[in-house]
Amino acid sequence: MRSALDAATRRLRAAGVASPRVDAELLLAHCLGVERSRLSTVDGPVPPEFERAVERRANREPLQYIVGHAAFRYLDVAVGPGVFIPRPETELLVDAVLPRLGETPLVVDLCAGSGALALAIAQERPDARVHAVERSPTALQWMYRNAHGTGVTVAAGDVADSALLPALHGRVDAVVSNPPYVPTGTAVEPEVRADPDDAVFAGPDGLAVIPAVIARAATLLKDGGVLAVEHDETHAEAVLGLLRDRWRDVADHRDLTGRPRYATAVRAAAR
Ligand SMILES: C[S@@+](CC[C@H](N)C(=O)[O-])C[C@H]1O[C@@H](n2cnc3c(N)ncnc32)[C@H](O)[C@@H]1O
Repeated sequence: MRSALDAATRRLRAAGVASPRVDAELLLAHCLGVERSRLSTVDGPVPPEFERAVERRANREPLQYIVGHAAFRYLDVAVGPGVFIPRPETELLVDAVLPRLGETPLVVDLCAGSGALALAIAQERPDARVHAVERSPTALQWMYRNAHGTGVTVAAGDVADSALLPALHGRVDAVVSNPPYVPTGTAVEPEVRADPDDAVFAGPDGLAVIPAVIARAATLLKDGGVLAVEHDETHAEAVLGLLRDRWRDVADHRDLTGRPRYATAVRAAAR
């Protein structure tokens, strides 16, 4: 077992994987069907599928696609090719809105992908009624699977559509969104290239989708409702500029690496 792990680690390191030992251990644990922390207690032969899993990772396929799930707050979200892998920085949006929610809040996640944000809010605020909107048919398949039995309402839709969720207009307490925002042509790691292009890139300036998210949020939120929207580290000023007319208490926030990462704003009363 140890020599297989050592060999896999060397192979992943040579392929440029950032955390070769951890990934090798996680892949072996996945193939054995045990927690990584239990690896040292497992005896017996290395499963044949381990070699194939290491090969996939050495080709820089994301670890989460190979094991089929991604951690997000207290959840394990099912993911695979065709859906964006939830990122740790997006967890901060949940912290931004949870303290601002009253009783039985109505929450909408725009550009919801696997449903990570919507599912986390539904789990951490069981009294919330949560809707999740996504355009990609493939991502929607993953979201339906993740949302099954959770109470989250999944909606196929485009944030560019001004008639999105008409029954909720002016009634929503919080909108969260991690839309695509990377400027097209930006050099990214091979693992990011595995995410669907239209989940990551948003036109030459990266701002092709955020204005529509803000416009939909303005329509959906009730007066005093809160928006939390993630953005590229270079977009703080541009996003704050989009939050002028119908918003108050506008603020930008940094992620755990200190980079500008998301904006919050409260829907102002005057319409
Ligand atoms: C960066 S991913 C985020 C997914 C999820 N919110 C998360 O944080 O894991 C952006 C998602 O927005 C979806 N998307 C892109 N353009 C959209 C649009 N115009 N309307 C609705 N969804 C869109 C993509 O398909 C993708 O699933």
